[in-house]
This record gives sequence, structure tokens and C-alpha cells, in this order.
Amino acid sequence: MNTIQLRTEIPGPKSRALLQRREAAVPRGPYHATPIFAARSEGAVLEDVDGNRFLDFAGGIGCLNTGHRPQEVLSAVQEQLQKHLHLCFSVTPYEGYVAVAEKLNAITPGKFPKKTLLVNSGAEAVENAVKIARAYTKRPAVIAFNDAFHGRTFMALSLTSKTHPYKAGFEPFPGEVYRLPYAYCYRCSYGLTYPGCKVACAGALEDAFKRVVAPESVAAVIAEPVLGEGGFVAPPQEFYATLQQICRKHGILFIADEVQSGIARTGKFFAIEHYGVEPDLITSAKSLGGGFPLAAVTGRAEIMDAAGVGGLGGTFGGHPASCAAALAAIEIIEKQGLLSRSTELGKKFSERGKSWQRQFPLVGEVRGLGGMCAIELVKDPSTREPATEETKNVARFCYEHGLITITAGTYGNVMRILVPLTVSDAEFAEGLEVLEAALAHVSAAAPQSQLVTSNR
Ligand SMILES: Cc1ncc(COP(=O)(O)O)c(C=O)c1O
Repeated sequence: MNTIQLRTEIPGPKSRALLQRREAAVPRGPYHATPIFAARSEGAVLEDVDGNRFLDFAGGIGCLNTGHRPQEVLSAVQEQLQKHLHLCFSVTPYEGYVAVAEKLNAITPGKFPKKTLLVNSGAEAVENAVKIARAYTKRPAVIAFNDAFHGRTFMALSLTSKTHPYKAGFEPFPGEVYRLPYAYCYRCSYGLTYPGCKVACAGALEDAFKRVVAPESVAAVIAEPVLGEGGFVAPPQEFYATLQQICRKHGILFIADEVQSGIARTGKFFAIEHYGVEPDLITSAKSLGGGFPLAAVTGRAEIMDAAGVGGLGGTFGGHPASCAAALAAIEIIEKQGLLSRSTELGKKFSERGKSWQRQFPLVGEVRGLGGMCAIELVKDPSTREPATEETKNVARFCYEHGLITITAGTYGNVMRILVPLTVSDAEFAEGLEVLEAALAHVSAAAPQSQLVTSNR
């Protein structure tokens, strides 16, 4: 049976009416990838207010690795609702918070003693990771990367790289943030090719200590193990080990921002595990709460304890319902084998993506790590000129044909897959069919220069 069922044009009349109300009542700042309004959802399927059913390959930008409304999460939250709601951990602590901390301490990489702070959002986790790193090292600076996204609050935004639409107009940002090129091999900032490059981008950190900022001023290097908003770029194997080695040499902490790549997305609980590196601090959020808002900073116990009593916290951090949901979501991942499912989905996507790459010159690169996978679209594979408009058109074709997708990348030319890992094989195949049809449709409309057969 087809999951996708479109009863109206997209957006339908009820969505159009709600869009009008939304435009009058909500600032234009918050962006929508689709023009439809949600009515209900389950698993990997979302129904809009006009009764149209969509397959969801965006998963709330990675918040739904365990699917929409998993029964175990609903039951755990309902049970919690019978006990107590918000108490504020800073006033009266409760077991759920501690249990989530214990669980994250256990599943994050590294056998050393760890502690976890719970907060509300990915950006807040990043902010706190920087506070903790500064408190521990007593140093001010943080080094981040090009194409990074770390959130929209001021320190997080200072660490975020992309100017439009995130940073422009919101200056000034907090200082002591320095930036290096990321290991984005398809668009190497140094014009080099892996493996001949010997991951020069990681080695560039040493050079930065001479040219940009003194190492004894640097508290931390922060990186997304796989770029999220920056376009699902997974660096070469040696990248993080080299970075961490340099950090260790200079007493600098390594923060892995796993807000998007964590919680089973890449086939491991945390993407950095693929690189055999144990970060000093890890931020997580998005799928951590199984559909409820929850974020965390987990790290070496002695580092996490550097901030004084009362120096960390926040009114809503670690809401009891979110904690109950998180414990249930992590159990789903463990019991339903979602780590291997993620690997399997990534493999299927990669095989299909490679066939698209042979068929459509529009597909410049197929990449990712496990279920965190993507295609980068280009106007011409030899010039690699970003196909930004075409990517928008692919995404539009998809939602007009019942598939919700989102784009990514500094040039907005990446189609990224964040499908719930609970998606069935049939649903996944159906979604890939729509994506293929979208690529064929947009390729057919593209100028002749795009239709040259490449020898990739
Ligand atoms: C890697 C990364 N860090 C931080 C954030 C910010 O998270 P939030 O939107 O929950 O503040 C995001 C959000 O997409 C992210 O992908």
C-alpha cells in the first residue's frame, strides 16, 4: 500500500488559510521547508490538515530518529504526567534527570568518569560547553570551523559560520572565536585531494597557533563530527585523531557537537565513535528527547565540575517529561537495533545515490555516514558550481509529490536525509522513488550544459 496519499493540491485549502494566519501572527524569521500544516503523525508518516499523507525524510531536522510518536515514548511520558510536571531541578531534584545523565555518561565514548548537564536546546548545550571549557582551562578562545552550525543564540551564532540567513544583521557577536576550514574534501579550501593531502586541514591548527591565536589562549576546539547544516560532510578518518592530538599537546579541550549527528543518526550512538576519538565534551539534543525538547552536555567529570555551584542550570533544563521521553527513546534505539538500521539505510541510500550520480550530472557527490546521508547538487560536475535553485526545485517537487525533505549546505545545494530510523523498507523505497523522480524532473528542465555526460 502506498503511504503517500495526496487528496488536494499542495498546499491544500486548510494549509493555505493557516499560512495566511501564520503570516499575520508570526514574524517571517522562522522558515518552513514545506507550506503544509501538520495535523498528526506516526512512524515516518505525517498527515496534513487537508488529509494529505506525506512520507517524512526530514524527521524534524533530525529530532525523530526513533520516529513520530513512538508508543514507548508516549507511555513513558503519560506515566510521568501522573507523577509530577515541572519542578525546576535547581529547586527540587528528581530521579529522571539523574537517570538521563547516567545513561548519557554510559553511552558516550570514553570509559573515564563523566557527568552530564541537561538543558533545553542544542544552542544552549553549545553555550554551556563553552562556559565549562572556559571555566576548566581558564582560557578565553574557541576555534570553530567553516561551514559549521552550532545554533542561533549569541555565542552559538558566533561559532556558526554561514552568514545568510543566520548571522547577517545580528552583529556584534561574542569575541574570541577563531575559524579554520573544515575537512570538506569535495570543496577543499586548500585545493588538495585526499589522501595525498595528508589531512592538511587538521594540521592547519598548528599553523593557526602561530598566525591566528596563541594556543595558551585557546580553551577548546569545537566541531560537528559530521557537518549538519553545512551539508552532511564526513571528514576523512584521520581528521579528528590529528585534531585531538594537537589539542592535547596544547592543553586544549575538544568539543564534539553531536546535536545533529548524535543519538544513532550515523549508525553509532555518536558520530565521533566512527573516528575512534573520545571528546572531552559532547553536546547532544534533537533526537535525545524522542520528540520532546531536551539537550545535554556530557564530559569528563573533572571538566564538568569546573563550573561552580549555581554556575550552570536554567529554569526548564531537564524537564521531567523530556527526561522520561529520552530514557524511552534510548531504550528504543537499543532494543530495536536502530544503530544497525541506520547503517543499513545509509548503505541503501548510497547505492541508489551512486546510480543517480551516473544518471544525472546534477548529482555531484553522494556522501554521509550511516543514515546521515546526502547528495550535493551541482550545475556541472566538472566545475562543481552549486545548483542552489535546482536543489530548491528538487525539494519542492518532493513535497508536491508527498515526500518531505530538507536541504543543507553553505550554498543550499545539498539534499539531506534525516528519515526516522524506524521507517519501513517499503516506505524508504517509496521515498527514494519520489526523490529520483524529482532529480529526473529537475534535470530535464536544466540547461543543456548540465546534460553532458560526465566521466565520473
Ligand atoms: C550541530 C548543531 N549544533 C547546534 C544546533 C542548535 O540546536 P537548536 O536548534 O536545538 O538550538 C544545531 C541545530 O540544527 C545543530 O545541527
